[in-house]
Amino acid sequence: MYSLPSHALEFERLDLQHGILTSTFGGLAIAPEIREALQMPACKVLDVGCGSGTWIKSVSLSHPHSECHACDVASVDSFEGFRVSFRQADVSHRLPYDDASFDVVQMRFLILALRIEQWPAALREIKRVLKPGGYAQLLEPDGEIRSSNRVVMGDKTILWNAYGPLEAIRAKGGDPNAARDLGKLVSATPPLDIVFEAHLPVSMSRSDTQLYGRAMTTNYASLIRLLAPAYAQYANVTPEAYVEMCDAMLDESDGTDAHNLMAGVVARRRA
Ligand SMILES: C[S@@+](CC[C@H](N)C(=O)[O-])C[C@H]1O[C@@H](n2cnc3c(N)ncnc32)[C@H](O)[C@@H]1O
Repeated sequence: MYSLPSHALEFERLDLQHGILTSTFGGLAIAPEIREALQMPACKVLDVGCGSGTWIKSVSLSHPHSECHACDVASVDSFEGFRVSFRQADVSHRLPYDDASFDVVQMRFLILALRIEQWPAALREIKRVLKPGGYAQLLEPDGEIRSSNRVVMGDKTILWNAYGPLEAIRAKGGDPNAARDLGKLVSATPPLDIVFEAHLPVSMSRSDTQLYGRAMTTNYASLIRLLAPAYAQYANVTPEAYVEMCDAMLDESDGTDAHNLMAGVVARRRA
């Protein structure tokens, strides 16, 4: 299901994306509950599907009293010199941690990775490893290019919404609505109780420097170039044409209010 590599170019993109997300949500913690939990002495933190590990590395640097762990289905070797313990693991099966062992668990941007039936399993694993009273922080991108005035949405954007990555996610058995329905998915995993939920816009206009449009469009163009070899077939075009289709959408979005919604949910495991 997952089609992105774990190499330097992708890790560079993930680092850029991390900057966009922390700026959009106001920091490493997206809600006061996570901010407070991270301040606890010896707070035990896990980053699931960590990728380049930028989030957990930043937590380890800004919270020197915390105990930091990270896992990913791929083998990640970027933690040398950081106070982060890494294990290779698949969240849709079993995480190699004891029940009730973490105060904070983050899982961010697994929409391209989990099959629709794996979402409940992954959330159950997160719930299992959370201590009672511990918090899960989840973030996913909605993927649909939106405009507050849909009437002005151009042909290129309509085409991209129909045949771009959301269609590939659906065709590959993933859940294209995982971001929109993140709260629902979490609510279906008792005893996780949602304490915060937000769907925040990030601009898809490269000249919009306020809503991170420049960074986001650079990130998006890089993402699509990495995905094109695997995803173009679902749009019935060549990888080159897939990239052109994306670039045409980005050109059309420039100077408009086109945006992508980022979903963020924080849930507490009932004590
Ligand atoms: C788009 S990256 C996001 C990385 C990181 N969470 C971030 O926000 O920068 C998705 C990551 O999830 C990992 N992944 C994919 N399937 C997974 C699974 N079943 N269990 C754990 N990690 C997985 C990938 O290897 C990749 O590193």
